[in-house]
Amino acid sequence: MAAVNASSEAGLAPVGIALVGYGYWGPNLARNFHSLAGSDLRYVVDSNAQALAAPQRLFGCATSTDYADVLADPAVAAVAIATPARTHFTLAAAALRAGKHVLVEKPLTMDVGEAQVLIDLAAERNLTLMVGHVFEYNPAVRYIRAAIEAGELGDIYYLYSRRVNLGRVQSDINALWSIAPHDISIALYVLNALPEAVRCQGSRCLNGQVEDVIFLTLYFPGNIICHIHASWLDPSKTREMTVVGSRKMIVYDDVSTEGKVRVYDKGAFRKGDVTYGDFQYKLHSGDILIPRLDMREPLQEECAHFLECIRSGQRPLTDGENGLRVLQVLAASQQSLESDGAKVALGAA
Ligand SMILES: NC(=O)c1ccc[n+]([C@@H]2O[C@H](COP(=O)([O-])OP(=O)(O)OC[C@H]3O[C@@H](n4cnc5c(N)ncnc54)[C@H](O)[C@@H]3O)[C@@H](O)[C@H]2O)c1
Repeated sequence: MAAVNASSEAGLAPVGIALVGYGYWGPNLARNFHSLAGSDLRYVVDSNAQALAAPQRLFGCATSTDYADVLADPAVAAVAIATPARTHFTLAAAALRAGKHVLVEKPLTMDVGEAQVLIDLAAERNLTLMVGHVFEYNPAVRYIRAAIEAGELGDIYYLYSRRVNLGRVQSDINALWSIAPHDISIALYVLNALPEAVRCQGSRCLNGQVEDVIFLTLYFPGNIICHIHASWLDPSKTREMTVVGSRKMIVYDDVSTEGKVRVYDKGAFRKGDVTYGDFQYKLHSGDILIPRLDMREPLQEECAHFLECIRSGQRPLTDGENGLRVLQVLAASQQSLESDGAKVALGAA
């Protein structure tokens, strides 16, 4: 059932939303836009008519296979796009040209130039363009960024993440473009920086067309390296990131039910009183803190933020530029992947 509509109570009309793409991920967006205060899920669109029975039954909204018709409806103020990545640019550009605000799933597009076109279209028309980098709305990820910014971890030495599982196997897009956008967006967000260069290697294990597993290294300013392992061909589901600092270390385990973030008061300090050699270090091992996090559904936060940005005109946290930065990393990584892991500077792709 729809939640009490706060914007109606405040005299504001709810934002009319059309969701495009009702496959694996679309239902999550539909559920949130159906239940969130201030939103009115008017349409679910899918080119496959068979996909439309469920949303009609669950949400009582209109459904359509005709995107152009839906864009022509003035009651639709915004479009959320959850179709395969290769369709994002065409669908998002059409929506912006029709005067609709747009939320696009990750990756924003498959091409840096196309992302810039979307950014320009949104700016010219004063429309909200947002990309679904959902982890930037996750309290655990926000905690890590705040801890790094506050200097709690000391100097950051390195970080690494693993996002692996058995399935969902993809055939039209590799693990870099399908899975790693999440880890790239998290790394850029927690470090509040853009890498200078990347290296990426991968392996085509199943159908020989796309890489099922990738190993990606991002080189950030200040000698900080970040390693990302993404795969849909792995024995167990792991969603983990470790950040190692000079004073403390953080492990973020997204599948843990008993504290997703653990802050380890551990570190290695160079001894001040050494008189010989350069290798005298004192290891420090203190308490482990599990901070209490207010775990509201990150996707709900993301959808609510989209509605708020449409209403207020504020720039989304994950705006088009944010999507473009992740794309720049993806494009350089793809170039490295095709060059057997050569180091590729950002901007060279
Ligand atoms: N944020 C996340 O955690 C997360 C998780 C999974 C997928 N995604 C993203 O969501 C998007 C969709 O992924 P998915 O796994 O749901 O894909 P999917 O293949 O399961 O579903 C896509 C749906 O879009 C429909 N479709 C395809 N082209 C269309 C078009 N031109 N017009 C209308 N409908 C069209 C298909 O019929 C299908 O029902 C991708 O961009 C993916 O990266 C995000």
